[in-house]
Amino acid sequence: MSALRDMLMTQVKELYDLPHLPMIAAQVIRKAQDPEASARDLGDLIQQDTALSARVLRVANSSLFALRSPVVSVDRAVVVLGAQMISSIVLGECLNAEFEGRIPRETLMAYWQHSWSAASAAQEMAGWLPSIRPGTLLTLGLLHDIGVLALLALAHDEACEAWELAAGQGVDPVEAELEVLGTTHPEVGGWLAEAWRLPDAIRVVARFHHAPVVAPEEHQPSAAVAYLSNYVANVAGAVRFEGLTAPAFWEESLALMRPSDPLPRSLVVDLAEDIASRQEGISALLRD
Ligand SMILES: [Fe+2]
Ligand SMILES: [Fe+2]
Repeated sequence: MSALRDMLMTQVKELYDLPHLPMIAAQVIRKAQDPEASARDLGDLIQQDTALSARVLRVANSSLFALRSPVVSVDRAVVVLGAQMISSIVLGECLNAEFEGRIPRETLMAYWQHSWSAASAAQEMAGWLPSIRPGTLLTLGLLHDIGVLALLALAHDEACEAWELAAGQGVDPVEAELEVLGTTHPEVGGWLAEAWRLPDAIRVVARFHHAPVVAPEEHQPSAAVAYLSNYVANVAGAVRFEGLTAPAFWEESLALMRPSDPLPRSLVVDLAEDIASRQEGISALLRD
């Protein structure tokens, strides 16, 4: 075991030099998972924080959503965009604020461009998987790479070295991470999800989105969605994140996602085109 891996494991598990999950983000995640909670509850929660409310309104009114008339209250934003989308916006905003200053701004923007692309792809896939709540997939897509955030904050140079190596030699970035860091962003993501006490579904996706076949069986469909949305985000992205060439398309992920009736690959190809066409809107959302 490498010394760097041991150090990273301790740092991440003890949140040393890493932010705690902001209280409001934890509350929003809990509300979003609670079938009893109403849209109003979520609105009330967000409105306790004026700066966050303002930010949610700015994002809701950004060109990504192209709403016909401007949204002027958080309650209205929750109704128009849906509780799950608003929760994801809050999560993105909170985490971005926590990591600003710890990670170079441009890198952080590239991270969110990639994560929002994956989140949008995952949300679209919800239509293919009626058994999973759509909003759950949006959040899973948004948070699949939290391990990358931790690596960028704690071992920026080594992580970039690994991704450059991967891009230069055409090898799998996760393999390159293992070689340089002794660990991988999915492993680190799993530690961080645990340290932040995130729900199981998010922890499993952070841990297994590059290898859904080894995820616990009940989570394999959502891990496969995360795998495919990561693939789509990389193929569609104007910004290639993680020094990544897109991972090879892995046919089996479609069967893992819907074992009884695997979907055709053409759906994923069409989705990648759709997500590519949203890249401008996503960067506007991050800039606004
Ligand atoms: Fe990843
Ligand atoms: Fe990713």
